[in-house]
Amino acid sequence: MRVLNFGSLNYDYVYAVDHISLPGETLSSKSMKVYCGGKGLNQSVALARAGVHVYHAGTVGSDGDKLVSVSVDNEIDISLLRRIDEVSGHAIIQVDRSGQNSILLHGGANMLQTRDYVDKVLSHFNEGDIILLQNEINLLDYIITKSYERKLIIILNPSPYNSQLSECNLDMVSVFILNEIEGNYLTEESNPGNILEKMRKIYTNADIVLTLGDKGAYYMQGQEIYYQEAFRVVAVDTTGAGDTFTGYFVSGLIQGLTPAENLRRSAKAAAMAVSRSGATTSIPMSCEVDY
Ligand code: RIB
Repeated sequence: MRVLNFGSLNYDYVYAVDHISLPGETLSSKSMKVYCGGKGLNQSVALARAGVHVYHAGTVGSDGDKLVSVSVDNEIDISLLRRIDEVSGHAIIQVDRSGQNSILLHGGANMLQTRDYVDKVLSHFNEGDIILLQNEINLLDYIITKSYERKLIIILNPSPYNSQLSECNLDMVSVFILNEIEGNYLTEESNPGNILEKMRKIYTNADIVLTLGDKGAYYMQGQEIYYQEAFRVVAVDTTGAGDTFTGYFVSGLIQGLTPAENLRRSAKAAAMAVSRSGATTSIPMSCEVDY
């Protein structure tokens, strides 16, 4: 079984602020750092650090050297990555004193995937291989449909939620990994139990992972529901914590962990990420998580 993550790569401009800026407010930051991130790249780094050989497909611009070198340093297979003469995606991220963030995205090259490129990438994968997707690239509907036609196992982290998702046939998804906000959009429910029940009714063939930040996470596999509390840590920067959870959870599925083991390990990895700065920089190695 091979694992493909088709997703975004971003430069993250991270500003430390007292509070997230309000409408009309001009705010000075206390520091600014540039990290490599993007939900796609973060999840590939988490998969790789958890011990999985992952192919990352996606598009960077002519300024993408650092995004490429971080991928290579993390032993992500970038043989299918595409480079074009545009600017890479970037995110402007404010992180407040409690570690909460606010993210403004510019898609750049992430939003310039083409059907030809998607077809070329998918031609390398076959029945039973896994494709992991988020919602930070264009053509998501096309990628889902073509992956389904090739009988790939589709795992979707529908983040960030926007109207592009309503163009996708989500019945083709085998596993959703989502948070309360995304769950609310998909089900119009706000209570975690109701979100899970409604997801079960709408997406009858899918397993659902619902993450709740410091309130823990649920995994609904068929008729069984598992719960894991969050690990308590001092929050430094929540950026990339959800991606860390997702990458670790997918690795646990591949590595044959039990649902309870997988939830616990993923929650622990995410908590470690919360206690560190940046996106890719905050993702722990499996030796730290399994210690
Ligand atoms: O999930 C965190 C990520 O969201 C950041 O790395 C940023 O690039 C945005 O894509």
